[in-house]
Amino acid sequence: MSFPTDRPATWFVTGTSRGLGLELVEKLLDRGDHVAATTRSTDRLLAALGTGVDTSTLLPLAVDLRDSESVTQAVHRTRDHFGGLDVVVNNAGYGFLAAVEETSDREVRDMLDVQVVGVWNVLRAALPILRAQESGHVVTVSSVLGLTAAPGWGLYCAGKFAVEGLSEALAAEVAPFGVEVTIVEPGYFRTGFLAEDSLALPATTTEAYPSIREMTADHQALQGSQLGDPAKGAEAIIDRVVGGGGPLRQLLGSDAHAYATAKVDALRANLDAVAPTVAATDFPTA
Ligand SMILES: NC(=O)c1ccc[n+]([C@@H]2O[C@H](COP(=O)([O-])OP(=O)(O)OC[C@H]3O[C@@H](n4cnc5c(N)ncnc54)[C@H](OP(=O)(O)O)[C@@H]3O)[C@@H](O)[C@H]2O)c1
Repeated sequence: MSFPTDRPATWFVTGTSRGLGLELVEKLLDRGDHVAATTRSTDRLLAALGTGVDTSTLLPLAVDLRDSESVTQAVHRTRDHFGGLDVVVNNAGYGFLAAVEETSDREVRDMLDVQVVGVWNVLRAALPILRAQESGHVVTVSSVLGLTAAPGWGLYCAGKFAVEGLSEALAAEVAPFGVEVTIVEPGYFRTGFLAEDSLALPATTTEAYPSIREMTADHQALQGSQLGDPAKGAEAIIDRVVGGGGPLRQLLGSDAHAYATAKVDALRANLDAVAPTVAATDFPTA
């Protein structure tokens, strides 16, 4: 994609009333870009932006990401309002900490509805526009937990691994149309992510997993001292899109890089360990 340099770019960003999404919106407005910002509450978004931010190029949109029709209307409104669409950022998401067996059917569906179905709804609405104009950039905020998993994060990882898979496939599908895809994989960032109103917990727990309760308390205590700076995270995402042409995966944070490196090493060791046996299930070659 060639990022527009002769006019303001139009961005569609999900999950914008706090955290990384809010930082992105503030920085994009500051650049003079056009920003369609989706949120569950436009009042909360506008209050968070305050009066010091020039919102003349902001289109706040109350959207239920789980609802395909609501998302499609928002994407089309963005195109009609600003006269086009250049960049889509799938940012909305939330954490959930529980053992796999403690996670209810409802909790699984709620998470996947937001994190996977929501992303898919945005893509289905936006891709025909990007494809037709033969340019555009799709950014999906995954996590380093989209690459590696840890106890207690099973449901969150299920969602983030899913968006990694769909984004990797998508990148290859839309490259011929001039549309770029970037998967963003943050480590721990100092947003509201680990705060009470963001990090979800299971409705019921068992006594079998004291280490997960301990880990949950440790994470809640981490709130406010995470390594990653969300303002710099938003800047890095904007730089990546404006610059174009980088790798598929954009890790953010040295903690993310270390976790991902450990995963790659473990995967390499796993591949080496099974290499002598894998051909045993092949049909004989002619
Ligand atoms: N912070 C980290 O440590 C970290 C690490 C790795 C990945 N991430 C990912 O980064 C993205 C941004 O998170 P953040 O750190 O900025 O956290 P945050 O401060 O909690 O913000 C999350 C945003 O997602 C939206 N959201 C939350 N729950 C939602 C739901 N049930 N339905 C629809 N939207 C919902 C909210 O939008 P509205 O309230 O405006 O609707 C909110 O603005 C997420 O995808 C997250 O998984 C974060």
